[in-house]
Amino acid sequence: MRLVLLGCPGAGKGTQAKFIEEKYAIPQISTGDILRAAVNAKTPFGQQVKQTIDEGGLVSDDIMIELVKERTSQADCQNGFLLDGFPRTIRQAESLWQNKIHLDFVIEVKVPDDELIKRLSGRRVHLKSGRVYHVLYNPPKKAGIDDLTGETLIQRIDDQEETVRNRLAIYHQQTEPLVKYYKDMDEHGQLRYIEIDGTQSMDAVKKEIFNYLDEDSETK
Ligand code: AP5
Ligand code: MG
Repeated sequence: MRLVLLGCPGAGKGTQAKFIEEKYAIPQISTGDILRAAVNAKTPFGQQVKQTIDEGGLVSDDIMIELVKERTSQADCQNGFLLDGFPRTIRQAESLWQNKIHLDFVIEVKVPDDELIKRLSGRRVHLKSGRVYHVLYNPPKKAGIDDLTGETLIQRIDDQEETVRNRLAIYHQQTEPLVKYYKDMDEHGQLRYIEIDGTQSMDAVKKEIFNYLDEDSETK
């Protein structure tokens, strides 16, 4: 199963990706997590992209396309994968098609902008695993500490309100055109496009996604 999670910053892509990864045994490929790991490790690539990420801009299509092409060709992706944060532009979406990476599902998680600002200002992240928490909506067992490893949680630099507004503006301008792009592909029978109300509880969103994915695999 190959799928894409589409949605604004803070819509819950990373949160839902962890549930899907576990249930369907496919790896989550979060381009944001990959980039943040490189920044944190201070590799030359990480140093090259740090400023763009901190300011909430988009890393160039050429870099991202190559990164995803390489990652999806690895052995653990043979039975499928979940893309979280890619594609983000029409050109990135076209690269998947050109590289014969055909998708089964695109799942759009929809949340209005004002709710996203609240979500991102309270988010805490475990950098190594990409596990996400929220101080109110999904608190860790012990404040500031990852439940599974006991390591410290961080706040992302790009979660400051002004940067979040910039990320949202870029999403609406550069990524939202993918909604029509993928709905058209759905109409041509090339994949299934699923829209989910992301303002529901995390558990309700999870159940709705699972229902769609299970229903579809039963009819095959
Ligand atoms: P990336 O890491 O992909 O960030 P993003 O797309 O902005 O999305 P987020 O990770 O902020 O949100 P999310 O939808 O995963 O929400 P989450 O589950 O954490 O990208 C970061 C940067 O990398 C980009 O700005 C760019 O610079 C670069 N980049 C990455 N990919 C790129 C690409 N393809 N091309 C170019 N550049 C690229 O949830 C958010 C919060 O809400 C959490 O606290 C969570 O606990 C809470 N929450 C989740 N669901 C619910 C719910 N149902 N109810 C209440 N709270 C909830
Ligand atoms: Mg995320």
